Amino acid sequence: MLMRKWLSGSRLAVALAMIGVACGETSHPFEAAAGGASSGGSGKGGAINAGGSQASGGGGGAGTAGALQTSGGAGNGGMSGVAGAAANTGGASGGAVAAGGATSGGAGGVAGSHAGGRTGAGGSSGSSGGAGSSALAATPPMGWNSWNAYGCNGLNEAVVKSMADAFITTGMKDAGYEYVNLDDCWMDGRDSSGKLKWNASKFPAGIPALAEYIHGKGLKIGIYETPNTKTCAGLYGGYTAGVGSVGHETTDAQTFASWGIDYLKYDKCQGQLSAFAVMRDALKATGRPIFYSINPGDQGPFCTPTNCSLNLPMTANMWRIGFDISAQWSEVIRLIDANKEQYGGAGPGHWNDPDMLEVGNGLNDVEGRAHFSMWAIMAAPLITGNDLSKMSAATKATLTNAEVIAVDQDPLGKQGRVVATPGTNLEVWSKEMSGTNKRAVALFNRGSASASITVQWSQLGLPQGAATVRDLWAAKDLGPSTGSYTATNVASHSVVMLEIVSSP
Ligand code: GAL
Repeated sequence: MLMRKWLSGSRLAVALAMIGVACGETSHPFEAAAGGASSGGSGKGGAINAGGSQASGGGGGAGTAGALQTSGGAGNGGMSGVAGAAANTGGASGGAVAAGGATSGGAGGVAGSHAGGRTGAGGSSGSSGGAGSSALAATPPMGWNSWNAYGCNGLNEAVVKSMADAFITTGMKDAGYEYVNLDDCWMDGRDSSGKLKWNASKFPAGIPALAEYIHGKGLKIGIYETPNTKTCAGLYGGYTAGVGSVGHETTDAQTFASWGIDYLKYDKCQGQLSAFAVMRDALKATGRPIFYSINPGDQGPFCTPTNCSLNLPMTANMWRIGFDISAQWSEVIRLIDANKEQYGGAGPGHWNDPDMLEVGNGLNDVEGRAHFSMWAIMAAPLITGNDLSKMSAATKATLTNAEVIAVDQDPLGKQGRVVATPGTNLEVWSKEMSGTNKRAVALFNRGSASASITVQWSQLGLPQGAATVRDLWAAKDLGPSTGSYTATNVASHSVVMLEIVSSP
């Protein structure tokens, strides 16, 4: 059974009706860790905690894994850009991220200059960074989060460790996934000095030890809080130990930094929009690069880049654009539609978040692949929400497909958008990719019958002549095509994912 989740807005009444119920439900009981995976990554602190506290840092080693992950480069791009410190000189070298061989300051420059372009504020500060691992948020984050599969009561240290193990044993880490994120219900109020406590029965060794374990595998750890006095589980689920961070931002940010936290999901839960900037500044003040993911919506119209009083790209590395996902096709469609018009808000350092993935949680394999394809073409965060220690071969193949992940992680950082609707329930999506005249294209059949879908080069802004076409899921070159390409028999609820490159 799928974990119930907190809902908001029009569905708040449903959520309220679930008070006292939701927190006690998990999709399945915890089962023993996959076990045995030894550290395959760099040691604690090695590639993880370095990187310097500000944007321009980093000696910039060579990138690993080609376009999938940047490595080497440096620093805290998005948030430094957000804070608009001193002028940045690194922007032009952003291309170095694409090449994987970051030059000093390049990655920070991407985010900084982008944010600056939107606001007039300027890029990175000038402090040097040391040997950074990946530029924070230069591409959409990839990882895992506990909520979709384990909810409130199912979260514990053994589960999280087993997921970190599975990152290694399943090839998820090699595919580019790096964040292992604890969602709501890890906490147990505050101690007498006001410092957050972890729930000792769920986390007997403690969060710092868990962070060390995760770092030891060359991965990063994320955590959850809210800008209110309670977390969402505290508000809606009766989890009384779920205290929020409002009024404690400085202490909590410092606590997270001291525990070795690399990522914060900050979930509105009826807090104030203005409080998001308070936590942003508190995180920045710690000097530790901490990816900042926010959920600025809870009731009424959702706060998105096109309608929010909050300047989202200036506030966070990523923001939710809709209410909680669940593992149903209609929910995947709802979030795609909610994200469709938001493409202008996305770019290196700051991303739209249509919520976590439900691949492997109940969608069939075709739908799971379509879901993943659409998140990739939308440059959405790839935060998985399934039990990684028990995924089917099909789920694993979907989540680790290098060519589709490369679409999501393309360093140009464009969010794809609909360029044609050639029939009812049929959509052509295009994402401009780095390189010359290159597009990722999704031929998306949302309907219940199979259909042919044609993409015209003119819809993609490509010259009319010959272009090479590659089917990414089939890993097959389809040869040159002139002016258009037609995929026949695109199955119901599926996506044909193409890379189209115009011949010179
Ligand atoms: C919701 C959020 C979910 C999950 C949950 C925890 O507001 O959208 O993703 O974090 O709170 O209580």
